[in-house]
Amino acid sequence: MKKIMISTGGGDAPGLNAVIYAVVHACYRRGWEVYGSRSGYRGLLDLDELQRLHIEDVEGIYSIGGTILGSTNKGNPFSTPVENLAGEVQVVDVSDKIMRNFRRMGFDCHIAIGGDGSLEIAHRFAGKGMPVIGVPKTIDNDLEATDRTFGFDTAVATATEALDKLHSTAKSHDRVMVVEVMGRESGWIALYSGISGGADVILLPEIPFSMDVVCEKISDNELHEKNYSIVVVAEGAIVKGGSVIAREGELGREEMLLGGVGEWVANEIRQSTGKDTRSLVLGHLQRGGSPTTFDRLLALRFGAAAVRLVEEEKFGHMVALVNSHMGAVPLEEAIKSRKKVNLQSDKVFTAREIGICLGE
Ligand code: F6P
Repeated sequence: MKKIMISTGGGDAPGLNAVIYAVVHACYRRGWEVYGSRSGYRGLLDLDELQRLHIEDVEGIYSIGGTILGSTNKGNPFSTPVENLAGEVQVVDVSDKIMRNFRRMGFDCHIAIGGDGSLEIAHRFAGKGMPVIGVPKTIDNDLEATDRTFGFDTAVATATEALDKLHSTAKSHDRVMVVEVMGRESGWIALYSGISGGADVILLPEIPFSMDVVCEKISDNELHEKNYSIVVVAEGAIVKGGSVIAREGELGREEMLLGGVGEWVANEIRQSTGKDTRSLVLGHLQRGGSPTTFDRLLALRFGAAAVRLVEEEKFGHMVALVNSHMGAVPLEEAIKSRKKVNLQSDKVFTAREIGICLGE
């Protein structure tokens, strides 16, 4: 009999519940117990936040977005900022307490579902002796070691649907619509949804853009009697010689909060071309809703594969999709670098060939 702990960390992504479903079922078939830790590691800081998961608890959740366990992208257990009564912020390390509770509960393995940040934390716990299996999650699809992360396909579908809808209103008003989508250092969502959703311009973090080139494309549309344009901008896109546009940080959050580049691009377009221009931020809509069939299946496969890795005692690994096959990669490899859009890929060539401007 094994006792497994499962957690979901970082920003939520459609498919998290499907992983939990698969883990609980695969463990049940083996006669193992599963406990969910609420909000990342909170269950190991306060044992009341641990929830025993029976198959009844996960009934039907594979099709539901979000995570029944809750998640957080604040408070790295190795350096958690805590505000004292005097309003001063102190950084504390609660990792030893987490390790003590993990052992006290008699857990054999922690299945950590997360993106780069959460998997890095899981890797540090592995270094302290916690048997860990990682499951790659992020709508940004920016983990190098796996062909795909779950959540990405759903985010692209949501963004593409939004672009489809914006076409009619942009056309009715002869407007430029600028849509900011998620994607911090990688423009996967922008590229996939932009190509599929008929964008005129796609701006990626991988290609610093020139506003002159963007405005030229918009004016060129007019010459071809297309009096509207759709511009898709990844939140991490950067104008040539500039830097990312970020918002004010939040206590306990290590990553920069990005946002605002869409509005900035819209203002520049308005000033240069005189066109009626509007911008919108698609934001967290991209993280919500029911996972697509692709994400659901991938998440279920990841969950089942994670349990097989526990059985094989292949700790310190992350399940990964490699050349369409389910595999495992060392966590250390998985967190090494971010997966960027390959500028020599056929998708980028396709964008250019069908007349999409990439701001180059
Ligand atoms: O990493 C996933 C992600 O959705 C990023 O694309 C985005 O920058 C960030 O999370 C937003 O985080 P929050 O939910 O804290 O606003």
